[in-house]
Amino acid sequence: MPSPRLLPALLAFAAALPAATPPPAPAAAAPAAPPAARYETGPRTRDGIGKYYFGREISQVMGHLGAGWLERAEREEEERTDLLLEALRLRPGDAVADFGAGSGYFTWRIAQRVGPTGRVHAVEVQPLMLELLQANVTRRGVAERVLPVLGTASDPKLPEGVLDLILLVDVYHELEFPFEVTAALARALKPGGRLVLVEYRGEDPEVPIKPLHKMTVAQVRREMSVHPLEFVENLGVLPRQHLLVFRRPAPAR
Ligand SMILES: C[S@@+](CC[C@H](N)C(=O)[O-])C[C@H]1O[C@@H](n2cnc3c(N)ncnc32)[C@H](O)[C@@H]1O
Repeated sequence: MPSPRLLPALLAFAAALPAATPPPAPAAAAPAAPPAARYETGPRTRDGIGKYYFGREISQVMGHLGAGWLERAEREEEERTDLLLEALRLRPGDAVADFGAGSGYFTWRIAQRVGPTGRVHAVEVQPLMLELLQANVTRRGVAERVLPVLGTASDPKLPEGVLDLILLVDVYHELEFPFEVTAALARALKPGGRLVLVEYRGEDPEVPIKPLHKMTVAQVRREMSVHPLEFVENLGVLPRQHLLVFRRPAPAR
C-alpha cells in the first residue's frame, strides 16, 4: 500500500500513461446488457477521455476553436473533400443528416447537391459551432434547406425513419456515447438508407493525425456490428481517410 503522501503523485503518473494495454473489449453483441455496461473506465491518455468502448479509448471532442482548421483553404486538396462528396451520390430531394456538422463545411455543400426539395439536418452539440454553421449556410444561400439541430451527447434529436443518408466526417471517434448515438442514427434512417463514416486511417502511420483521432476498418466494423446496420463497402477514394458505407437493411420483398 503506497503512503498517502505518495498517492496523488502515483495517480497523476497513472493518468499520464498511454493506453498501451486498454481494458479488454466487452463481448461483441450483448443486447441484453444495460448501455452503461458497454463502457469501461481506463487510463486517460492525453487526447482521450479515459472511457473505453470495445477496447478503444474515446477521444476528446474538438472544441469550437478548431473551426478554423475545419475551414482551412487547403482542406479540399489534402482530404479530397470533392471526391468524398461525389462518392455520396446525392440526389435532388434527398433527406440527409450531417451529424457532428461542426462549422458546416459539408452542410452547405450537401445542401447545394440535394437542391431546393432536399433537406439537411445539421446536428451539433456545440451551440457555437451551430452559430458558425448558420452563418455559413446563410452566406451560401442554402439556409432554407438546412435544419440546425442542437443534439445532446447521447441523443441526436433526429426524427425516425426519414433519412436517405447520414454523414459523419471525423466525428465517430469522439462520440462520448457511441452505442446510444449509433442506435438513434440507425433508427433515423429510412429502410435502405445509408450511414457513411469518414475516419482517418488508423492502420496507416503515415497519416499525420493523433492516434485517437484515427480508426481502423476492423474497429469501426466491430462497433457497428451491434446495430441493425449492414456493411456495404469501404470506398478507397480518399488519400487519408476511410469512407465506410453501412446501410439500414430494407425489408425483404
Ligand atoms: C472534428 S469535428 C468535424 C466537423 C465536420 N464533420 C467536418 O468534418 O467539418 C467533430 C464535430 O463533432 C461534434 N460532435 C461530437 N460529439 C457529438 C454528438 N454526440 N452529437 C453531435 N455532434 C457531436 C463536435 O462538436 C465537433 O464539432
